[in-house]
Amino acid sequence: MKQDMIVILDLGSTENTVLAREIRDLGVYSEIHPHDITVDELRKLDNVKGVILNGGENRIVDGVAVEVSDTIFDCGYPVIAIDHPTAKCETKLDKLPDKDALSEFLFEQCKAEANWNMKNFIEDQVELVRQQVGDRKVLLALSGGVDSSVVAALLLKAIGQQLVCVHVNHGLMRKNESESVLEVFKNQLHANLIYVDATERFLGKLENVADPEEKRKIIGGEFIRVFEEEARKLDGIDFLGQGTIYPDIIESGTKTAKMVKSHHNVGGLPEDLQFELVEPLKQLFKDEVRACGIELGLPENMVYRQPFPGPGLGVRCLGAITRERLEAVRESDAILREEFEKAGLDKKVWQYFTVVPDFKSVGMKNHARCFEYMVIIRAVNTIDAMTASIERLDWEVLDKITQRILAEVEHVNRVCYDMSPKPPATIEFE
Ligand code: XMP
Repeated sequence: MKQDMIVILDLGSTENTVLAREIRDLGVYSEIHPHDITVDELRKLDNVKGVILNGGENRIVDGVAVEVSDTIFDCGYPVIAIDHPTAKCETKLDKLPDKDALSEFLFEQCKAEANWNMKNFIEDQVELVRQQVGDRKVLLALSGGVDSSVVAALLLKAIGQQLVCVHVNHGLMRKNESESVLEVFKNQLHANLIYVDATERFLGKLENVADPEEKRKIIGGEFIRVFEEEARKLDGIDFLGQGTIYPDIIESGTKTAKMVKSHHNVGGLPEDLQFELVEPLKQLFKDEVRACGIELGLPENMVYRQPFPGPGLGVRCLGAITRERLEAVRESDAILREEFEKAGLDKKVWQYFTVVPDFKSVGMKNHARCFEYMVIIRAVNTIDAMTASIERLDWEVLDKITQRILAEVEHVNRVCYDMSPKPPATIEFE
């Protein structure tokens, strides 16, 4: 690690992530560590230039009042508190954000260099991955989502053909999604990529299954089995690449993070298929992951794509999935995305998609009564997906999308717009 680092010790403030972001915005790398880190552990971290203590109002973690060990103040790094100052701290910052005071601390007191940028990050990670992997092979499940795509591009740069990507098409991908993964990674970047079309297998398992959680379980479980079967066909793989990012680590708690997330992601693979993990993005926030993808030359539409759930269109084709309704979801979603892009809404709206319920309504087509499905459009904005508000779509845009869906999507005679915020609705319908 060549970049200088500021360590934030977590004394219970909810603002630590914001603080880490602000320090990185000033060009200095920053990580959050548990309040009870020992001096030895702190010294083992690379290029530490200073330490910030932040506990918010009361310095309480998990309901217990906490303090840092006195030895932290004697370890030779500049230390500041930005909650209530203790006598031992040299400096106090009054509130967040206070960029001037923060800059003063970083650049005057800690003498940190503003060398945190994606170019340096990539250079470092390429070197670290090469050291970790040597001449051995890394397996990566490449879904085409932002994180797995950026990991793939980074590992490809570091170890080239020693990276083996597996793309499983579960038949619940959006229109042209698998094709674009193949186009970018196989045709353009010449990655070692195995494409598995498991559509029939997934749809077979999902037949007549209407319960949303049961559907999720089947899709998740089947995905692991398909991936495992591919892994067993390959020889001499020692590592598993993963798109773990920094929020995954913070969310699981700074102490137990690595264990929880790793278990969560590879949990399900049998004991005899345990790999060592390669997680080169685990220091990055989401927007840094995107910047890293751009720096690595990935296309913008791959790096800036909206969130897409793991079970894919499976949870948007409501109830028991049928091919007819699945196609209606896929086609209407493609129209929605196309029209959003034309209207510039793809850059503005956080998540937008269509769903098709499992009941029909009466309509008229070609002067005759018809009994067909409806498409519901959903477009929401959110910061953290915990709450969400609807996008107030322009009537003209809604009208255009509606007309196109009615004219182009088979088995559909009605289009609705979902006006519900979260809560009480969730973003997805299942
Ligand atoms: P809800 O529907 O809970 O969705 O408001 C919040 C966010 O999570 C996404 N989501 C999922 N992502 N697997 C995923 O990987 C899932 O099973 C899943 N369910 C919901 C949803 O798209 C939204 O961004």
